[in-house]
Amino acid sequence: MDAIEALTTRRSCRSFKQEQIKNEELQTILACGLNAPSGKNKQSSKIVIVQNQEEIKELSKLNAIIFGKDVDPFYGAPTVCFIFVPKDESNGIKDGSLVIGAMQTGFYALNIGSCWINRCKEMFELEKGQQYLQKWHLEDYVGVGCCILGYVEKALPEKKILENRIIQG
Ligand SMILES: Cc1cc2nc3c(=O)[nH]c(=O)nc-3n(C[C@H](O)[C@H](O)[C@H](O)COP(=O)(O)O)c2cc1C
Repeated sequence: MDAIEALTTRRSCRSFKQEQIKNEELQTILACGLNAPSGKNKQSSKIVIVQNQEEIKELSKLNAIIFGKDVDPFYGAPTVCFIFVPKDESNGIKDGSLVIGAMQTGFYALNIGSCWINRCKEMFELEKGQQYLQKWHLEDYVGVGCCILGYVEKALPEKKILENRIIQG
């Protein structure tokens, strides 16, 4: 799939096979994220990959606490990435968002489903979340977004509004 096709047809996925994605695929896509643009080319974002299913469950529960709903916000995905940026980085949220966007399009191009999941900042402000930050040596970082991924079980593509969103100035 070429870049234009991936960018114009990519959709989020919220239903995954339990089979883990191949490490080569993951490494390819992490390279997409690491090559994303960043303000002043600081490249300060960090990507944490979690594939331990017990840890994913625990982290999902932290996310659900912030969500305020007794659900699995990670939709049973076999891999979850967390994107962090330094707390004092003024372009941090923008830089981190581009990392996630590049990864999502890259995953899609490899037929791997992904979805951005919110509440990454708040879940790591919880006591248990802070313990994870300590474990990952990211105490001075803030969460930008969670990116769940895995092979697609079911796709429910969202329609896009293509009218009235471009203004010829
Ligand atoms: C900043 C941001 C936060 C999102 N948070 C969630 C979320 O918490 N849960 C979820 O299921 N999807 C979440 N999404 C996915 C959006 O719902 C999805 O991108 C949107 O419906 C458009 O669908 P598409 O990605 O298939 O184009 C988020 C997307 C973005 C960009």
